[in-house]
Amino acid sequence: MWYFRSPSIVYGEDALSFLSELHYERILIVTDRNIVKAGLLSILHSNLPSGSKNLVIDNIPEEPTVSDVTDRSKQVMEFSPDLIIGMGGGSSMDAAKALFVMYERPDLDLFDITPLVHLGLRKKSRLILVPTTSGTGSECTWAAVLSDRDHGRKNELASPEIIADYAILDPVLVQKLPQSITRNTAVDAITHAVEGHSSQWKNPYSEAMAEKALRLITHNLPAVLRDGNMKSREMVHIGASMAGLSFSNSQIGLAHAMGHSLGAHFRIAHGMSVGLYLPYVVDFNQDYSVESYEILRQCFPEKYRGESLGETIRKFFREIGQPLDLKATGIDRDEYDLNLSGMVGLAEESTGIITNPREADSQEILELFEAVE
Ligand SMILES: [Fe+2]
Repeated sequence: MWYFRSPSIVYGEDALSFLSELHYERILIVTDRNIVKAGLLSILHSNLPSGSKNLVIDNIPEEPTVSDVTDRSKQVMEFSPDLIIGMGGGSSMDAAKALFVMYERPDLDLFDITPLVHLGLRKKSRLILVPTTSGTGSECTWAAVLSDRDHGRKNELASPEIIADYAILDPVLVQKLPQSITRNTAVDAITHAVEGHSSQWKNPYSEAMAEKALRLITHNLPAVLRDGNMKSREMVHIGASMAGLSFSNSQIGLAHAMGHSLGAHFRIAHGMSVGLYLPYVVDFNQDYSVESYEILRQCFPEKYRGESLGETIRKFFREIGQPLDLKATGIDRDEYDLNLSGMVGLAEESTGIITNPREADSQEILELFEAVE
């Protein structure tokens, strides 16, 4: 027995106006300062049900820790919302998921939560997630990533019950996204699609979502980066959520295991870190994922298609200006080499190691880290 899990998805032009039709009275909004500065919080506000009372937590940091979340939970309890809206990139949406659990089940320790524990959420509130980037897929997944800076790692809080009631994909929120963020987040989504499609836990639903996601993103991203084309942006936004649904229902692979590990050692955008390793990991997996990789190769526009999926990804990344070597990410080679054993150790702890199409031992992971030019 297997499940396909997904929030209800509201998408397209004016999707945010869906909020004005809801009958909630006390609405908590979880977001970050950049969203406020970009004027996106005002757009959200103008779509909230009239007469609702709102509390805004607008200071979620990038890559929030457990204490970043617990520090804010008292405020949430006092406000007593009947709806929680997480708006932003992965950090704000993941913080909203964690706050939702803490508010519903204050008796639980966040790390006692596993997919096997019945939480009985939704006694007090509902959860809506609104992405303002096209990449993390967090609005569609049933996990929240919280950093643990003391141990240099990331912890995952996972339960099918933390999947949002609704994900709202309104292209107006990504209209003015800077090029670098558009590129990095889309590369994250491409990596979700590739890894979700070829995971050892792949299934017909995760495959279908990944294929369509990859088509939508690779056929539309160059136009978005070239001239900010709005229709193309909308397609990339939808594609990113589909890629999220793919990996959320099958799991990620070695590029994410390695990318998370790099991100724990160096300050680097998540999409840039997983994208750096993706072509190497795909080459490594090639003979173990022949059928899946051929399907994925065909999802790219013809002009980028190389002999293999790895070659195709490299061509596409070159076209969009995505870093293919360490130097372009700004990481110092000597410092990188000094951290290699720590990075291998951390990568080995990731679920992505279990679900990657090819098993990789410590030596092979080390060689993949070293192979990056
Ligand atoms: Fe990712």
